[in-house]
Amino acid sequence: MICNFTYNTPTKLYFGKDCIKDLPAELGKHGKNVLLTYGGGSIKKMGLYDKVKALLKDFCLFELSGIEPNPKYDPSVLDGARLCKEHRIDVILSVGGGSVLDCSKAIAACACYDGEGWDLISGKVKAKAALPIVDIITLAATGSEYDMGCVISNTAINDKRGYLDELLYPAASFLDPEYTYSVNKWQTACGTADAINHVLEQFFAKPHSLFNDGIMISALRSLMTNVKIALEKPDDYAARSELMYVCAWGCNGILSNGAGYSGWPMHSIEHALSAYFDITHGAGLAIITPRWMKEILSEKTVERFVTLGTELFGFDKDLPDPEMAEQVIQAFYEFFASIGIPMQLGELGVKAETIDEMADHILEYDSTNEPWMFAPLDKAALIRILEASM
Ligand code: NZQ
Ligand code: ZN
Repeated sequence: MICNFTYNTPTKLYFGKDCIKDLPAELGKHGKNVLLTYGGGSIKKMGLYDKVKALLKDFCLFELSGIEPNPKYDPSVLDGARLCKEHRIDVILSVGGGSVLDCSKAIAACACYDGEGWDLISGKVKAKAALPIVDIITLAATGSEYDMGCVISNTAINDKRGYLDELLYPAASFLDPEYTYSVNKWQTACGTADAINHVLEQFFAKPHSLFNDGIMISALRSLMTNVKIALEKPDDYAARSELMYVCAWGCNGILSNGAGYSGWPMHSIEHALSAYFDITHGAGLAIITPRWMKEILSEKTVERFVTLGTELFGFDKDLPDPEMAEQVIQAFYEFFASIGIPMQLGELGVKAETIDEMADHILEYDSTNEPWMFAPLDKAALIRILEASM
């Protein structure tokens, strides 16, 4: 069944080798004063920074650098918003991974607001305007380049918030797979694990349709196949280009238009983990995934496992349902381990004594226990998942 839905992703995508040649024309639509945002230096090492500066010689460029993974409200968002106001910035150009882009989206909204920016990010106040955002994405993972979300950490209160607003869609995103050749094995694996989880968060929902299932299983097959190639041969254009395109579809709804909404429970759990321990998002998700699957496996959910077992993994159709489900869970566990993700949270520095507090935090901020959810999780269930993941 396809249920009612509205779909509108207004971002213009430029995809492929050398697509950034169109960057000046795209930025020029918004004005001359540009805030260039980037992270810890990867764009300088790969020569992209110099290329962008040369392309934008006729623009007036200001810079915000040093944006960290799991981008921080203080100082990055606050500094960026201040720069935008001081220099009358017309457009923000984000060059980097999802963290740089997420930070840029938050800056875009906070720059047009006179109150405390966290009120926008935490959903207390609705933004009335945001600066336009253009990005060159350099890591295949989050899908931020094609969605209206950003995720910002507020270390003062151990909070990591997903902030969604249609004002935050990038005006244009440039996706050149060659800029992902320098992404190391760890980030390649974690980025793909993140994208796999985006698909699973949408796959485990009801109602669903053959059409949605088909797109999502294709996405999973592409991600799981191509990441292995990219890990082996980082400059394999075919593999990097598929990863980049599939990742872009992760969070803008296109995979699950017309299907039910699950509530994205694994993301709720992971956001608490990275808020408390600053871990890499995709690694946290990979570790939680098989434990979450085990927790929610029931007569009501088993059909989703059976579809993955037969359509994605090609398991024997005659296997009893519970056995098929167990094999699917084991297959995901082994897949994530095979791409180099340590499958215990303890190895990422997560401390077991914080589990109880994190479970309360998740319920308070992300309400994983709503009756409309595909598989609601109460505090005891959250604790079981986290303990099994340690
Ligand atoms: O800081 P630099 O030097 O640029 O290095 C980065 C960073 O250390 C490096 N990197 C990026 N591109 C590279 C590269 N290194 C070499 N070559 C390149 N081409 O990779 C490291 C990680 O970068 P980051 O941007 O943090 O990774 P990712 O894109 O996975 O973003 C993760 C963040 O996005 C959020 C996550 O929670 C996390 O904070 N998410 C955003 C979503 C969204 N906006 O829709 C949805 C996701 O579910 C997710 O929550
Ligand atoms: Zn994610």
